[in-house]
Amino acid sequence: MNRHISPLLPRLSARETISLLAPAKINLALHVTGRRDDGYHLLESLVAFAAFGDQIDVSPARQDHFAVTGPFAYAVPADGANLVMRARDALRTRFPSRARPVDIRLEKKLPIASGIGGGSSDAAAALIALNRLWALDLDMPALCEIGLSLGADLPMCLHGQQTGLPLVARGIGEALDPVSRFPSLPIVLANDGTGLSTPQVFQALLRRDHPPLPSPPAFSVIEEVCAYLQGTRNDLYAASLTLAPGLAGLLDLFVQTGARFTQMSGSGATCFAVFGDNAAAARAAAFLRARHPQWFVVATETRSTSES
Ligand code: C5P
Repeated sequence: MNRHISPLLPRLSARETISLLAPAKINLALHVTGRRDDGYHLLESLVAFAAFGDQIDVSPARQDHFAVTGPFAYAVPADGANLVMRARDALRTRFPSRARPVDIRLEKKLPIASGIGGGSSDAAAALIALNRLWALDLDMPALCEIGLSLGADLPMCLHGQQTGLPLVARGIGEALDPVSRFPSLPIVLANDGTGLSTPQVFQALLRRDHPPLPSPPAFSVIEEVCAYLQGTRNDLYAASLTLAPGLAGLLDLFVQTGARFTQMSGSGATCFAVFGDNAAAARAAAFLRARHPQWFVVATETRSTSES
């Protein structure tokens, strides 16, 4: 199943820097099917990972150092509160004798609090890089257990980091099933600058027992994916819309660009649109940027299961 050797896997350079892409996580569909006693919601979500994301570089150092650069650096803490630092510290607490000082550099290209998993993807990348740098030899279940203590999206982002492949996430996000066959989707991500608090969006849900996600078949072509997605939902959308009314206009604009399918990702407010080819996605991104130069707009593609 996971024959694909991902370029997301750590590459060790001569200076022992591990450089990773922390890809945007896109919830192509997100059904909320229930709620646990601890307040966390039960989800069924089809998730894909983009070829675009944050960049993280981890190298041995004389003393710990953490620096954040990039267009959204201003929006995240550059101290122990950052999820990357919390991931480092969670590993260090468990393996104090192995955890040498490290220099971690994060280039923040994804908007924060925007439903595309930036913080979770960064933390997943940090866990995978440090697992290797500190020679901890933790397997995926062990990494996912540590990741889940940092956030519900960490396990899916760890899998996305390791394989890049689309998956269905269930439970609160910890039960993962890879999708057996899935084409690469030309996609545009757009955010008008709105950040949404995930807990607030979940609190604003009016209903918590929606029907489950239809079981995804093996997909060969983009049209099949879009036809399937038409029968799915993002059950957080209505709640997010009450907090960010501008979402509706963004989705309308996507429709004007000829998108085959549009939806909000996660708890928003980033929305995505699927196109028939990369040229159409690039044209749509140019259209949005010309109209709204201040928006975050990226044309990219999702990773497929058929790459080898
Ligand atoms: O786990 P994480 O810190 O990412 O979740 C942030 C918040 O989002 C949780 O405290 C919870 O309020 C909400 N959440 C939820 N159900 C999920 C995931 C997140 O209710 N499956």
